[in-house]
Amino acid sequence: MDWIEKEKKLIPQVYKRQNVVFERGEGCYLYDLNGKKYLDLVAGIACLAIGHSHPEFVSRVCEQLKKLVHVSNLYYTTPQIALAEKLQKLTGMDRFFFCNSGTEAMEASLKFARKATGKKKFVAFKNAFHGRTMGALSVTYKEKFRKAFEPLIQPVEFANFNDIVDLGKKVDRETSAVIVELIQGEAGVYPAEREFVKAIFELKEKYGFLVIFDEVQTGFGRTGRWFAKEHYGFEPDIMAMAKAMGSGFPIGCSAIKEEVAEKLEKGDHGSTFGGNPLACTASLATIEIMEKYKLVENAEKMGDYFMKRLKELYSEVRGKGLMIGFKVSNAEELVRRALEKGLILNATSEENIRLVPPLVIGKEEIDLAIEILSGLG
Ligand SMILES: Cc1ncc(COP(=O)(O)O)c(C=O)c1O
Repeated sequence: MDWIEKEKKLIPQVYKRQNVVFERGEGCYLYDLNGKKYLDLVAGIACLAIGHSHPEFVSRVCEQLKKLVHVSNLYYTTPQIALAEKLQKLTGMDRFFFCNSGTEAMEASLKFARKATGKKKFVAFKNAFHGRTMGALSVTYKEKFRKAFEPLIQPVEFANFNDIVDLGKKVDRETSAVIVELIQGEAGVYPAEREFVKAIFELKEKYGFLVIFDEVQTGFGRTGRWFAKEHYGFEPDIMAMAKAMGSGFPIGCSAIKEEVAEKLEKGDHGSTFGGNPLACTASLATIEIMEKYKLVENAEKMGDYFMKRLKELYSEVRGKGLMIGFKVSNAEELVRRALEKGLILNATSEENIRLVPPLVIGKEEIDLAIEILSGLG
């Protein structure tokens, strides 16, 4: 029996997978079990900022692996504290709760918001995606993801994205937090307008709620800035991050301002694995490699180039940096045909392709992608 047939018997069928088994990766390329090479424009869904198996990352993680993997949060370990120190400089946030994924970062963020404000209500946006655990799912919009699992946490209201008037109707004095992706990712790469983000902060002043930025997908250089918030110039009370934070090694974080941290007490939240020495070393190595090779700058430059080239082929090209979406007539068919030609794409809907390639991508790879896409019509 081959691997794919076995998977169908062994793994709950909750994933829609492409028909390929990958064995190894290097830089922007993946190789399947038959040795066929693929140009990867998905990067494990926006995770492999430094590309696959970066040699400096591998050696840093292996070194830590030999030294200490895990002791739990009953004790202090140096990589967790060093990572927090580094993140403080990068994000402008004050304190850092470490966990293991984006959805966990959102769970922590929602709990912290309730504890800090003593209020219950959350306001999120239509088409938002914040994860699939019960709390994160409660602020995720798609009916298909939510329906079977209701009742979810309440009260939650969804406002139209980029609609200041509608948001004004949904927030009130009972609102604990407004949760926003500055660029909606799973929805298909739709940036928030600056005026809209400004309005969120004006309403915050009026009603006293907290603002949670979900930078799980937009963080760590993806948009040509370390964090998407730098494009807008507003500072959240809480910021969720994960994905590229560990270059594929599972790590997430809820970064908070001191005013939120002051309200937290021992036992309010926790994680056995969260912030363990191996995960934090993977994250520190990722950040240092990104700094050394100027990958944030590369994301901005290559993002501009990629979007310019995509506009030669497609009508609606959106995004910032290397977080790019564009419209096609049959997205799933394009993903399947591109895969046959050795190009990895991702469809977020029937009509939308999302590209979130490694931030180490260069013109040569972008030109190759355009050549393959042109051939697919
Ligand atoms: C904006 C955003 N928030 C949260 C999540 C959930 O992250 P994870 O899949 O790591 O739990 C995702 C995942 O795609 C995301 O894009």
